[in-house]
Amino acid sequence: MIQFQDIVKKYRTKTVIEPFSLNIDAGQLVVFIGPSGCGKTTLLKMVNKLIQPSAGKIFVNGRDISTVNPIELRRNIGYVIQNTGLFPHMSIKENLELIPKLKGENSDQIAKKTEELLQVVGLNPKEYMHRFPKELSGGQQQRVGVARAFSTDSDIILMDEPFSALDPVTRNSLQDELVQMQKELNKTIIFVTHDMDEAIKIADKICILKDGRILQYDTPENILKNPANEFVEGFIGKRRVWNNPELLMAEDIMIHEPVKITSKRTVLQAIEIMKSNKVDSLMVTDKNNILIGLVTLKDIQLLNRTAVVEEVMEKNVLAVSKEANLISVLATMNEHKIGYVPVIDTQNQLVGLITRSSILSALSSQLIDLEVAF
Ligand SMILES: Nc1ncnc2c1ncn2[C@@H]1O[C@H](COP(=O)(O)OP(=O)(O)OP(=O)(O)O)[C@@H](O)[C@H]1O
Ligand SMILES: [Mg+2]
Repeated sequence: MIQFQDIVKKYRTKTVIEPFSLNIDAGQLVVFIGPSGCGKTTLLKMVNKLIQPSAGKIFVNGRDISTVNPIELRRNIGYVIQNTGLFPHMSIKENLELIPKLKGENSDQIAKKTEELLQVVGLNPKEYMHRFPKELSGGQQQRVGVARAFSTDSDIILMDEPFSALDPVTRNSLQDELVQMQKELNKTIIFVTHDMDEAIKIADKICILKDGRILQYDTPENILKNPANEFVEGFIGKRRVWNNPELLMAEDIMIHEPVKITSKRTVLQAIEIMKSNKVDSLMVTDKNNILIGLVTLKDIQLLNRTAVVEEVMEKNVLAVSKEANLISVLATMNEHKIGYVPVIDTQNQLVGLITRSSILSALSSQLIDLEVAF
């Protein structure tokens, strides 16, 4: 959908964008984040040809934009610039309707959409529609800027720190609205911010930039879990996992080699395996390692020792998937009043076991990281 191919930007002798290549899929919200001056605005402005690259190509919907008329290109790309960029001599309504009118959209529909968009960004249409930008606060102007980006039926929206002047409450609700509108209308969005919390909340993918280079381009989860280097780590902060316990997955907190037994073995053998491993329960698997049951010492110690595990095991075993997050694992354990829960992959193969002590040791290793970091 949007493709940067070996883009370079030089101002005289200074290179501000190093060869930069990135693919953004249709319908994705990608956040550019990085320190001031790293090139975020420069990259954004290249997509709608407000800045020309010194080398390299950009493709939008498969078309090399160097061959596309800039005016036509911009009409199809919504843009919220760093300082709103509303036209001062036009009312809010006129600002919102300018591009749709230029594109010849139906005027009743345009008027209806203007009201809807103002509602969405939390501005009463009757009260604000006929005011001029200077009669609005900075934050209100930003909201109009956001509404304007959505006023065209363009597939692509570029947003340069659109929420920077907003209070945290308004900012939060606009972040929610943005993600909802983006998914509903299937927009492709590049969103620039300085705020990692904002990036995590809204991004499908985050591109972390420094000195005109990509340090890491991945989903928020992967960046938080596996930061590419120390700079990224510093940028996201070690506390992140504590602030976002849902990022810890069953895989991260489980014991990897749970003690298990196959179903054709006997009760005697099961008890021996428990004793030698100092556990009081065993996962039962078939020859393909598929979890099919569970035996506990309590349940089998009084049984005939020659009975086969398959006949005496508990067949209804609750398990969690390895992608389940810590919150849902804890909820499952509490709800069913169990002290451990097996972990399975998508083929129902046993991959691990979560116990209260495996959770504690995973969390305490995070805590040690945290103490070292601060
Ligand atoms: N017209 C210009 N002439 C020379 N250098 C420029 C010009 N425009 C931008 N730069 C330089 O290019 C670099 C990237 O600027 P850019 O505006 O893309 O940064 P940014 O990541 O958007 O920063 P911020 O977070 O502060 O908005 C900066 O070092 C800036 O000084
Ligand atoms: Mg900028």
